[in-house]
Amino acid sequence: MENRADLPPEIARRRTFAIISHPDAGKTTLTEKFLLFGGAIQMAGQVRAKGEARRTRSDFMKMEQDRGISVSASAMSFEYDGHRFNLVDTPGHSDFSEDTYRTLTAVDAAIMVIDGAKGVESQTRKLFEVCRLRDLPILTFCNKMDRESRDTFEIIDEIQENLAIDVAPASWPIGVGREFIGAYDLLHDRLEIMDRADRNKVAETVKITGLNDPKLADHIPADLLEKLREEVEMARELLPAFDRKSFLEGHLTPIWFGSAINSFGVRELMDGIRQYGPEPQPQLSAEREIAPEEKAVTGFVFKVQANMDPKHRDRVAFVRLASGHFERGMKLTHVRSKKPMAISNPVLFLAADRELADEAWAGDIIGIPNHGQLRIGDALTEGEGLRFTGIPSFAPELLQSVRAGDPMKAKHLEKALMQFAEEGAAKVFKPMIGSGFIVGVVGALQFEVLASRIEMEYGIPVRFEASQFTSARWVTGPTAKLDGFANANKQHMATDHDGDPVFLTRLQWDIDRVQRDHPDLKLSSTKEMMV
Ligand code: G4P
Repeated sequence: MENRADLPPEIARRRTFAIISHPDAGKTTLTEKFLLFGGAIQMAGQVRAKGEARRTRSDFMKMEQDRGISVSASAMSFEYDGHRFNLVDTPGHSDFSEDTYRTLTAVDAAIMVIDGAKGVESQTRKLFEVCRLRDLPILTFCNKMDRESRDTFEIIDEIQENLAIDVAPASWPIGVGREFIGAYDLLHDRLEIMDRADRNKVAETVKITGLNDPKLADHIPADLLEKLREEVEMARELLPAFDRKSFLEGHLTPIWFGSAINSFGVRELMDGIRQYGPEPQPQLSAEREIAPEEKAVTGFVFKVQANMDPKHRDRVAFVRLASGHFERGMKLTHVRSKKPMAISNPVLFLAADRELADEAWAGDIIGIPNHGQLRIGDALTEGEGLRFTGIPSFAPELLQSVRAGDPMKAKHLEKALMQFAEEGAAKVFKPMIGSGFIVGVVGALQFEVLASRIEMEYGIPVRFEASQFTSARWVTGPTAKLDGFANANKQHMATDHDGDPVFLTRLQWDIDRVQRDHPDLKLSSTKEMMV
């Protein structure tokens, strides 16, 4: 991942990224400050709902509900210092889900937010691992420095050891908790002082010549200044200096210390993305690598969201543009169906509202309203038969059977389930024998979310119950062999929402047996979403 001088300027100025964090570390607050400094909202809201409910929806929807500002879920675009930032939302619920993984296939970098008192937490680690699978460059923001936090070296050590990544301090905090006054900017040798009086005000920057500048004493109490000098000297000796190449390769993360709620450190972080953050990167397809500057427009669907507007049954497919310059009204080929599609009303998610996108460039995320034709993993091109890779579908780890409270509603339930399967919110399996469905998810909370969505969006109360199966494996192989196997194992067979065969069981032993007895068949726990 290198910066490329030859990219068209419109592409080179784009930054597409996500924020990852453990719940409560401050992702929403930081997002809000990004929007504020990006000119997308006028004022940061203070009202927010508490409790578990807010975790079950995407954070942007949460902001929409709680704060009354109209922001659209999933992706937001705003301008910052001559750059176009595309911030893609990672789902807010605390269970790891495929949604999250797929979101991260659409970005070029991630910001990892950690709570200065808590350090690396479980969800941070999981999300980080996903970023690592894709070698995503990561910028770290250590938040809540206005509260009692851990020792700075301890936090850095924990990240280095826990996540096996080099950490280069971009700033160094001065004081902690009530004594926190700001940070020393190690990249520019500047002093940043936090404004405690106005939470939405950007820090005051004091120009200095370095750590020995006598001016520092005008702003920092003597004991804190001595500590700062000692620590920075040690840090420069012991810790790696920021190295752009290492960062872009995902081996090193710069860390800023700040307080999102006080707007402190946020601008420095944004400047970090602007200055160092990767430009739109090439994307992989089964056929070839696609470079962002290619003239022909290509893109892939990484998320489908239904019922964004309760009045319509429409879905919005979120497309990451991989190459080219898209203009509204263009006819693109929907590769899976080989049909042309006129993209006449694409939306760009400017934070203030959804807006019609007249144009978009490689790196941008556009929303395409549709009636269900567009599915996760689908490619749109100007005719080329591309299949984007790397958007996997995971085997669910938890299975339950589902029934409508009212048996007359079975057909409606099927429709609702298929919609969620298409959205990628759950796996839905229709057993070969018997009626009913088996629903698979990656985290237990998703059952609750599904039950409440089915009730809210379709008016069908449902019951999830323990299923006799605990594992699902997609089965592939020569058709004759596959049919024979399915017929001999009807009580274990089902189809997913694409009609692909799935083997359900409760024993790992069963899976091993099938693999041993049927060497021509392949049982796999992921299904790559491509056609
Ligand atoms: P999340 O999206 O990662 O879950 O975190 P969110 O931004 O919702 O922040 C979680 C809590 O941490 C919120 O408090 C928020 O105000 C607080 N917070 C965020 N940044 C900072 C910071 O820099 N310093 C301090 N001290 N707190 C911060 P809450 O009690 O849940 O809500 P609220 O009533 O304070 O708004």
